[in-house]
Amino acid sequence: MSAILMDGKTLGMKVRENVKARVVTLRTNGIIPCLAVVLVGDDAASLSYVVSKEKALAEAGMESRDIRLPQSTSETELLALIAELNKDEKVHGILVQSPVPKQIDEDKVISAIDPKKDVDCFHPLSVGNMILGKPGFLPCTPHGVLVLLKEYKIPVYGSHAVVVGRSHLVGKPLANLLSLKEYNATVTLCHTGTKDLACFTKQADILIVAARNPEFIKPEMIKEGAAVIDVGINRITDPSAKKGYRVCGDVDPAVADKAGFYTPVPGGVGPMTIAMLLQNVAESAEKSL
Ligand code: GUN
Repeated sequence: MSAILMDGKTLGMKVRENVKARVVTLRTNGIIPCLAVVLVGDDAASLSYVVSKEKALAEAGMESRDIRLPQSTSETELLALIAELNKDEKVHGILVQSPVPKQIDEDKVISAIDPKKDVDCFHPLSVGNMILGKPGFLPCTPHGVLVLLKEYKIPVYGSHAVVVGRSHLVGKPLANLLSLKEYNATVTLCHTGTKDLACFTKQADILIVAARNPEFIKPEMIKEGAAVIDVGINRITDPSAKKGYRVCGDVDPAVADKAGFYTPVPGGVGPMTIAMLLQNVAESAEKSL
């Protein structure tokens, strides 16, 4: 059996085309959707992520307020900036790229963002609303996974979804979203404390892996025909690659021979994250219509 590839690149473009049309309507009404993108420090991977986000915003006809702060930025300085952006009516969303330098308490910064502008859905109030199934922004990567599952008509209702990884960014929100009545999956959340991981992953109808561990999910760890969603983005050293590294997921691509559905890395979940971010910014701007 060879799995059906879940093409996040194409689906992400479709979402972005839809956002573009919404931006045209917003602009006709005098509103230019704008996301403040804040990067503190000079981490190379973070810089490449924010540049991709800014490019995508421009392509969708949106504005980005690109803010780069030095590694030495203090928590007080960053909090003052957030307070300013909260007040700025031209700014519809605020994104502080994670992680921030050690001298800054990231939780404090996230809690300082006005939840109305929290397009990442990181604020405790946004997270609470999401867990309760109340209206509000959904976190971008988990939302992207849900949209992919829907597009490929993967039965979620009544399925056994196993999530590997309990990060605030992906695993925890996804496990909570899938257990909402709306999705009604039976959810198992595995993490570093899980004793026999394969025992759980083998039971998954839907296996979602976000564990920052390169290609560690092997074919023998999955059920034949499962939908395997690989959220991992790892850079591993590869002297034969032009950049000296290659990007791979948390799932061994050999899994594709056994799975029913499979997201490639790159080109699976990754492009969905940016698409859902743009959608959240559009949604935030539409509230001022
Ligand atoms: N760092 C890695 N992924 C993300 C994301 O989606 N949003 C923010 N703000 N930081 C990140």
